[in-house]
Amino acid sequence: MFRKKTLYWLLFLVVFVHCQPNTKNKEVAKEQKEAISQEEALEIGQNLAIASQQVLGKNLKLAIEKGGVLGAITFCNTAAIKLTDSMSIAHKHSIKRISDKPRNQMNQASGAEEKLIAAYSKDLATGKNIRPSAFKKENGGYRYYQPIVSNKLCLNCHGVVGQQVNEKTFTQIKALYPNDKATGYAANQIRGLWSIDIEK
Ligand code: HEC
Repeated sequence: MFRKKTLYWLLFLVVFVHCQPNTKNKEVAKEQKEAISQEEALEIGQNLAIASQQVLGKNLKLAIEKGGVLGAITFCNTAAIKLTDSMSIAHKHSIKRISDKPRNQMNQASGAEEKLIAAYSKDLATGKNIRPSAFKKENGGYRYYQPIVSNKLCLNCHGVVGQQVNEKTFTQIKALYPNDKATGYAANQIRGLWSIDIEK
């Protein structure tokens, strides 16, 4: 009787110990699964930049249709960052627009980012392909950058003052952004970058 009981215990112990999950291996597997490659970061970043660009572009067009260029300035002033912030929350990655010549100082590019913009501008001007970049961060995630290229529509508010940007528009811009640097652009220039933090 006693021996039978001991046997059951032993059996139980063997099964129990054997079936304990190997947590160490599990953690390694988890880490491997979570680490993302540069290709994946580029793909995620590109999808998010396209989606964000579409949301902003659609709303900008609607705002111009409704309130003209002047009305749309108020839209950009109050809604642009809100829209990119809501995209960030929805997709759990920080999504921003930055520029070396920002209108809103909150969008000021860092020194390294200004260099990247300069390099992209040179490539665009010399007819080279401009491709997005993804830089690995210390935490294992990536910082994705995608150039934002100006077109004719943008020049209403970012073109040359007195030419595409009329005086009324410029007065409104200056009232909202006394330190505005974002005029003087032509079409097909680098207006800024999408900056997206892709966490692993
Ligand atoms: C109706 C005027 C208007 C038009 C048209 C317009 N923008 Fe802007 N843009 C603004 C305003 C106002 C801001 C500042 C938004 C803010 O405060 O967040 C801005 C900000 C930006 C920024 C963020 C960096 C910065 O300078 O603060 C980028 C990039 C940008 N615009 C690109 C474009 C592009 C590309 C187009 C054309 C597709 C365009 N804009 C068309 C008014 C305009």
